[in-house]
Amino acid sequence: MEKIKVFISRQLPITAEDLLSQADFEVVVWQEEYPMPKSTLIEQCQSASALLCTGIDEIDAGFLEACPHLEIISTFAVGFDNIDINAATKIGISVGHTPGVLTEATAEIAFGLMLSVARHFLDTNRQIGKGEWKYFIPTKNLGIDLKGKTLGIFGLGAIGFEMARRSKAVYDMNIIYCNRNINHDAEKQLGAKRVSMDELLSQSDVLSVHASLNADTKGIFNKGAFSKMKKTAIFINTARGGLHVEEDLIGALESNEIWGAGLDVTNPEPMHPDNKLLSMPRVLVLPHIGSSTYFTRSEMARLAAENIIHFFRNGKP
Ligand code: GLV
Repeated sequence: MEKIKVFISRQLPITAEDLLSQADFEVVVWQEEYPMPKSTLIEQCQSASALLCTGIDEIDAGFLEACPHLEIISTFAVGFDNIDINAATKIGISVGHTPGVLTEATAEIAFGLMLSVARHFLDTNRQIGKGEWKYFIPTKNLGIDLKGKTLGIFGLGAIGFEMARRSKAVYDMNIIYCNRNINHDAEKQLGAKRVSMDELLSQSDVLSVHASLNADTKGIFNKGAFSKMKKTAIFINTARGGLHVEEDLIGALESNEIWGAGLDVTNPEPMHPDNKLLSMPRVLVLPHIGSSTYFTRSEMARLAAENIIHFFRNGKP
């Protein structure tokens, strides 16, 4: 019997390839380090029944119309804003993703950004390199104490919960959140309080974004939103760069409307090396490394491969 062909659009932890090969799939992997041009991806998918892609592949209506024979698209990511789910559903292509396995790693990056910005990790490191560490100056590099402060979570799903749990445990922070639904676990376990968007903006000392990017959330952190935040607030985004408007964030930081920002996601990605945010004080930008640990990436590879295996065995990812 002919093997079912899976095309993998990036080199992933070897787990994915091994699991698929062991399950008797034919596996073809894009070997280059640079992302696949869309036309090449379409070409490569012509002879495949399944695509294992990543969050940087643009799986839009055009791609889907050119590859309607695909039976499943399994993305190596929890977010699937790069995939036109409506178009895929209309054509009848199943979509799988990797929730759960990257929760802790991503929450850690949000927590790390919060502490790093609050205590000037990056600014002060740069000062040493520039020969600016000359004396002890008691009034320089003063940071923000996090103990007992208010953490606002925008989008309280699994990752937001883990960020809140860490912040509560370490700094006894008060947790407020803005979310479509009540998060009963967070209310019971962390004493979290659901608030309106305006209350989230005006009450948060640290505002951490954990929502998915969609038509309702795109650009929601804009000039108007930043103007409602505390002057001492830190803005953290580890979800998607599209949730904040970059020039409005820069404006809010320059005019001291907010105090600092920590970003693991930008819009576009990669961020241009000349971007103003990279040289601003109290700003730390990371290159989208939320899930980037050995264990987490290998778990994502396992889950993305298993989604395909389960789909062909049981009809569902
Ligand atoms: C990372 O951003 C993911 O969605 O997995």
